[in-house]
Amino acid sequence: MKVSSRVHRMKESSTLAVAARAAALKKEGADIVAFGTGEPDFDTPSNIKDAAIEGLRAGLTKYVATPGTLDARTAVAGKLRDENGIPCKAEHISITAGAKHALYLVLQTLIDPGDEVILPTPAWVSYRPLIELAGGRCVEVAGSMERGFKVLPEELAAAMTPRTAAVILNSPSNPCGITYTPDEIRALCEVIARHPSAVLVSDEIYEKLVYPEIQPGLQHFSPGSLPAMAERTITLNGMSKAFAMTGWRIGYVCAPGSSGFIQELIKLQGQMTNNIPAFFMPAIVEALSPRSASQVEAMRVAFARRAGVVDELVRAVPRFRSVRSTGAFYSFPSIAACKGLTSAGGRAITDAQSFAEALLLEAHVALVPGGDFGECAADHIRITFAAEEALLRKGMARIAEFTGALR
Ligand SMILES: Cc1ncc(COP(=O)(O)O)c(C=O)c1O
Repeated sequence: MKVSSRVHRMKESSTLAVAARAAALKKEGADIVAFGTGEPDFDTPSNIKDAAIEGLRAGLTKYVATPGTLDARTAVAGKLRDENGIPCKAEHISITAGAKHALYLVLQTLIDPGDEVILPTPAWVSYRPLIELAGGRCVEVAGSMERGFKVLPEELAAAMTPRTAAVILNSPSNPCGITYTPDEIRALCEVIARHPSAVLVSDEIYEKLVYPEIQPGLQHFSPGSLPAMAERTITLNGMSKAFAMTGWRIGYVCAPGSSGFIQELIKLQGQMTNNIPAFFMPAIVEALSPRSASQVEAMRVAFARRAGVVDELVRAVPRFRSVRSTGAFYSFPSIAACKGLTSAGGRAITDAQSFAEALLLEAHVALVPGGDFGECAADHIRITFAAEEALLRKGMARIAEFTGALR
């Protein structure tokens, strides 16, 4: 059957591919330690589940407004105003089928063929394919590991042109596990502010997972709170990571101001998916209420502890080089020193892809090779530490043994 060239050209999500491969080996009986998928190992807090069940029982089973009910949009806008300092109202919000869907809608609404989108890399695997699907040109700006994977204002300035339609910023970052400080974000925004036609797309899906335990004083900062950026920042977020709700598929987009952008986006959403399930709406209100805060914080504290454990274990692998994880749940070490070596099972290690494949087959640890996170990331591997400490130690011991046995 015919397949469109634009979809045929698109790469499969490598993170989902790794998960499928690990699941297949598991099914065959292998004892796989899975560090691949980027989702919390915790369950959704029960008050949030109850709110959805009550919504279902109360008959929230019909279509509602495409961007969500007024209650849910009001709750999202209230959260963004109170917690993030973003001047917005319910009418600036649309609730989507995950932040990934929100990103798709934003890029389709924003990009014309040939427009450039600046992507600081290493970056999440879906940005480039979705930019290109929208007809945009992805301009990677590599953040070097020596500078903690962070892009400097002068590097961003050098990449911006009159064709720059958007800059994507993702802090805390998948896959780097790093968090920009408020001052670093302000400095990047000063560069963007000099280009009036460029928009900042701020993906804040990991905002609740920031670790001052590791970098004292560190906190999340929303660029949409800066007066100069308020009407030029599109903020993406969702329930997946902070509330352990990946399977629910709830995200949201906020585009304040009078540009009419959000209405155009909702028009597209209305032709695609309409609203997300109506009985999720009370669950969103519940998740964003103070009743869920202590559970979110308990998960954050657990992730902070695991970040410390994994950092220590990664640093103890002589052939790895890494940056400390200060946010999200990822460690992103370089395996460059392993290249040119051969595994105990006789497999040649030429890059992170071959490293990850050999590791999965010989040591039964699943993780994601860096290539799809950006051209600069081909020698990195992503270790997700969304697992209990005992499992983290078990998997890291296997990685250390596998790496130590390379010759
Ligand atoms: C940086 C980033 N943004 C967005 C998403 C999408 O999250 P969801 O679609 O589950 O809301 C992910 C998921 O891995 C992510 O890592």
